[in-house]
Amino acid sequence: MRSRLVAGNWKMHGSLAANRHLLERLKPGLQAIDGVQCTLCVPYPYLAQVEAALAGSGIAWGAQNVSEWPQGAYTGEVSGAMLRDFGCRHVIVGHSERRALYGEGDKQVAAKFQAAQGAGLTPILCVGETLQERESAVTEIVVGRQLAAVLDSSGVGALVNAVIAYEPVWAIGTGRTATPQQAQAVHAFIRGVVGRQDAKLAAGLRILYGGSVKAANARELFAMPDIDGGLIGGAALVAEDFIAICAAAGRN
Ligand code: PGA
Repeated sequence: MRSRLVAGNWKMHGSLAANRHLLERLKPGLQAIDGVQCTLCVPYPYLAQVEAALAGSGIAWGAQNVSEWPQGAYTGEVSGAMLRDFGCRHVIVGHSERRALYGEGDKQVAAKFQAAQGAGLTPILCVGETLQERESAVTEIVVGRQLAAVLDSSGVGALVNAVIAYEPVWAIGTGRTATPQQAQAVHAFIRGVVGRQDAKLAAGLRILYGGSVKAANARELFAMPDIDGGLIGGAALVAEDFIAICAAAGRN
C-alpha cells in the first residue's frame, strides 16, 4: 500500500510571530494523526525556525523552490545542499506559480528536480493544466509533456524518491476544486504514463492532488484510488484546517 503525504505550501506568507503561533498549534495536532506523513514547505528565511520547532517531531519540512545549480554566482538563488543544511526533506519544484510568474519551463523544472535529488531531497514535482488547456481538451497532453521532461532527463527510476502533485492551475487559490472524478482521471493517467515504463514503481508512486483542498472536500478527494494525499496552499495557514486535512488522509 502507498504511504500518504500531505504537504503544506505556505507560499509567501508568515512572520516569525505568526509561524510560532501556527507551529504551536500544528505540532500536537499533526502528531496525533497516524498513517500520513505531513510536511511543511515554508519560505527560506523561516527554515531555521521550522527546523527548531519540528526537529524530532515526526513532522517533516521543506522549501518551495530550489536552484538547478549546486553553487556559484547565482544571485538570489538557494541550492539543494543549503536546504539540506536546514534539515529539509522535501522541496516543491515546478509549481505553476513558478512556471507562470517566473518563466520556469519544463527543462528548467527537470533540472531543478535533478538538483534536488542530487542534494538528497525528495522533490514534489507539480504538473497541471490551465483552464484554457482543460477547455481545449489537452490536459493529458500538457501533463504528459511536463512529466516527460523529467522522465527523459532523470529516467523513470528517479521517481522512486519523488512525489508528483497534480495541481490544475484553475483550481489553485480559486476555491474551485477539481471534482474527485476529474482529479482521479488525471492521477490515473499519470500513474499509467509511469507504469508503461515501470509498473512496480508506478504502483508505489505517491501522487498528490492540489488546488483548493479544504477540510470539507479533503476526504472525498483522498478516497479516490490514485490520490495519495494533497498539496495544500491557503488551508495550510490555518492550523485546524491543515490538521483536519491531514486527518482526512490518515488511516484512522
Ligand atoms: P491552494 O494552493 O490550496 O490555495 O489552492 C495549492 C497550491 O498552490 O499548492
